[in-house]
Amino acid sequence: MPATRRQFLGLTAAAGLSLVTGCSGRRPSATGPSSAGGLRLTAAPVRVDLAGRAVPTWGYGTVPGPEIRLRAGETLRVRLHNELPEDTTVHWHGLAPPNGMDGVPGITQDPVTPGTGFTYEFRTPIAGSFMYHAHVGMQLDRGLYGPLVVEPRREELSYDREYTLMLDDWRDGLDDHAGHGARDDAGHGTAAADPDPVDAVSFGGRSYPLLLVNGRPPEDPPVLEARPGDRVRLRVMNIAADTGFRFAVAGHRLTVTHADGMPVEPVVVDALRLGMGERYDVLVDAGQPGGVWQVGVQSEGRGGWGRALLRYAGSQASGAPAVAERPAELDGRLVSYEELVAQEPLSLPAGEPDRRYDLTLSGTQIGGQSYPDADPLVVTEGQWVRFTMRNTSAKWHPMHLHGHHFQVLTASGRGPVKDTVAVPARGGEVTFDFLATNPGRWLFHCHNHHHMEDGMLRLVEYEPRP
Ligand code: C2O
Ligand code: CU
Repeated sequence: MPATRRQFLGLTAAAGLSLVTGCSGRRPSATGPSSAGGLRLTAAPVRVDLAGRAVPTWGYGTVPGPEIRLRAGETLRVRLHNELPEDTTVHWHGLAPPNGMDGVPGITQDPVTPGTGFTYEFRTPIAGSFMYHAHVGMQLDRGLYGPLVVEPRREELSYDREYTLMLDDWRDGLDDHAGHGARDDAGHGTAAADPDPVDAVSFGGRSYPLLLVNGRPPEDPPVLEARPGDRVRLRVMNIAADTGFRFAVAGHRLTVTHADGMPVEPVVVDALRLGMGERYDVLVDAGQPGGVWQVGVQSEGRGGWGRALLRYAGSQASGAPAVAERPAELDGRLVSYEELVAQEPLSLPAGEPDRRYDLTLSGTQIGGQSYPDADPLVVTEGQWVRFTMRNTSAKWHPMHLHGHHFQVLTASGRGPVKDTVAVPARGGEVTFDFLATNPGRWLFHCHNHHHMEDGMLRLVEYEPRP
């Protein structure tokens, strides 16, 4: 199977970057990786094993792709090689590299054509939980994504082990198998009909039969190991194209420590809600005497179910909860932006923003314009810029800004620093501030990839200094 060889090649790491597969139970190493050498990512057709079914897709060797780990201040150096039949690029979601390394074809770089490559290289001064993914058309909707963790120089949190969980909605390769049965019978895992036909067109008439956690369907879930008394760090990431998620661990509460990789004052909640592109780091105290506990992942606003398992050392796998058993915590206290307080707020000057944009969001437009028939949102280097978004549509829109971190405006005046923020449907409003300190042309778009393809994208463009 060519996929096997490619899988192997996709994982080739030279000395330097430490490379851990999607779901590691290890603590960051004491010495840590160095920035020497580099990593090779090969974008190519692969097969994923979905509970015994080999499904064709595109990926970086595995789905998710290899976890890239480095330490704050080091240099990310990745050689992308394109073995796909079409152009591709890699975007480093949540990082703020120089514009030329941002991975947007036709805007920040030439597309990487089939059979060729491109080397991404830039310093990563800021620690956090990030993601990388293809940024051409709907490629992200296949398996072209992976986690990227930048460890701090000195870890402030204390914990015993950590896992990265990438949540995804999946349809790729299942098209030919319409009505393949088992999942519908089980009464879960099937995306229900869109409950809200108003902008159903944005879904392209597609449904997502499966929700995956680290590339695994609910029948074959990833298993997180813990000993009683352990403190476990979870980096939860939503890489779906079209699905917001609710996330909870049965029998355990979640202490939120980071939003989109940036530290917040710890908040204890029962459940997370993640728009596409958002990440939360949480600590889970393994306070139960033992057992196997459901880590439940539910689609927001429609059917669909995914899961992982939290297994205490020595507990019988036979004690695992049924596939569809739903943690009651999913209906408990939800994380909200209002409650999140940045530990490291942006250093905004006193006074008022230098430039403001008020932007209405519909399923196809931002500020009344649909890309590519859209004007750039112009900023000047050094400015304090404020975006206010009002969602007039019936779908929520997780809005993502490339190349910058922004601060969400909340009552505390110290809202979370993020790069993706979900604007609630039907009149929801969110305001954020950012400092224009990274010149170039940057995307600002809805991270629902169908909405983005339908035109919910604008360029943020730096004008030359007067
Ligand atoms: Cu996750 Cu335009 O990106
Ligand atoms: Cu949207």
